[in-house]
Amino acid sequence: MKTGSTKQGPAVILGLESSCDETAAAVVRGGNELLSSVVASQFATHAPYGGVVPELASREHLRSIVPVTRAALREAGLDYASVDAIAVTRGPGLAGALLTGVSFAKSLAWALEKPLIGVNHIEGHIHAVLLEQARAGGRELQFPVLALVVSGGHTHLFQVERQGTSWRYADIGHTRDDAAGEAFDKTAKLLGLGYPGGPAIERAAQSGNSKAVPFTFAQLKHRARQESKRAGRMQEGRPRFDFSYSGIKTAVLRYVETHRMDATIAVHRRGLMEIAEPSAEDYRARCSRQTLDLAASFQAAMVGDLTQRALAACEEYGAQTLLVTGGVAANRALRDSLQQRAPESGVQVLFPGRAMSTDNAAMIAAAAYPKWIAEEFAGWELTAEADLPLR
Ligand code: KG4
Ligand code: ZN
Repeated sequence: MKTGSTKQGPAVILGLESSCDETAAAVVRGGNELLSSVVASQFATHAPYGGVVPELASREHLRSIVPVTRAALREAGLDYASVDAIAVTRGPGLAGALLTGVSFAKSLAWALEKPLIGVNHIEGHIHAVLLEQARAGGRELQFPVLALVVSGGHTHLFQVERQGTSWRYADIGHTRDDAAGEAFDKTAKLLGLGYPGGPAIERAAQSGNSKAVPFTFAQLKHRARQESKRAGRMQEGRPRFDFSYSGIKTAVLRYVETHRMDATIAVHRRGLMEIAEPSAEDYRARCSRQTLDLAASFQAAMVGDLTQRALAACEEYGAQTLLVTGGVAANRALRDSLQQRAPESGVQVLFPGRAMSTDNAAMIAAAAYPKWIAEEFAGWELTAEADLPLR
């Protein structure tokens, strides 16, 4: 088991994910061979509310987890008995949503007499990049490595270290208030563009002028003391690279109010709600120029801030590689901005494919593989932890 192999070959891990608004199951062999990945999105359930409703999310996970798991096994050509371990997201995320996945995984592991592996969702996002790199036959990872995890619930910069077959993470910056994806979601809701907000803003922004409204961000500067002690790492005295995205949301709100945009927003909000997944053309046809410009300016400001802070951290840490992952990493403008600017800092930027950027279970199964090798198995006391930190 220490080699990561079973009698039949490399370990086959069934991954389960239910931390937010996607129920997902996937099968990965040997940590890097994707056999199947099935994601049931709850967008339609939450769209009328413009954000995730936790109670509805739990109910949808309960409905979907068994059929999604069966579909993942079917797609992989396997049955329950032929997997070697069950891996599940144990946090961070919505408590009730997480609990559905954790309880189901525990029942499966118990009934099948297979090892159970608990995975941190953020670690999963980081392993989504490594999984896709390995699948693409990418070259060996060049250290030092930093990871920017940008999603609806998290905006984090980590220093990533490999110790033998295990991985360790030191928090070198995170958001002090809203996550980047949360800012996209709240701004899209405010502008009547729909849910989830990231893809909506991205499509609307295509027809807007990104220079129309200049947004600025606060300078956040302080040195690492408390955090480095907590992480037990060697960052004492180094600057931190924290983020703050609640201010830009308020700035958009103020712009909407002072320019009296409410009435025009109400009109296109109603129009767009009739379309299941509005295209860039739908946004162009239905939204006012002012709304399109505001969406484009907001996106450009977010992309500029994320790019600047991530690359400043890379310079401070002498990083050779920057992994960028989480739902917001699906954003084309962010990808282009980092790809264009990273070479100046001598950094190679790696992203997962766009589908693998948002929540999925393949990343959970991939992140579980080093734990399988190290025999880091969970006991029956495994529970969901809404605020689970990554170390
Ligand atoms: O990783 P994820 O699926 O779930 C969490 O762990 O939170 O990320 C979802 C977030 C949402 O806030 C969504 O609006 C954002 O990622 N997102 C995007 C894009 N696609 C998803 N943000 C900007 N541009 C996108 N194309
Ligand atoms: Zn996520």
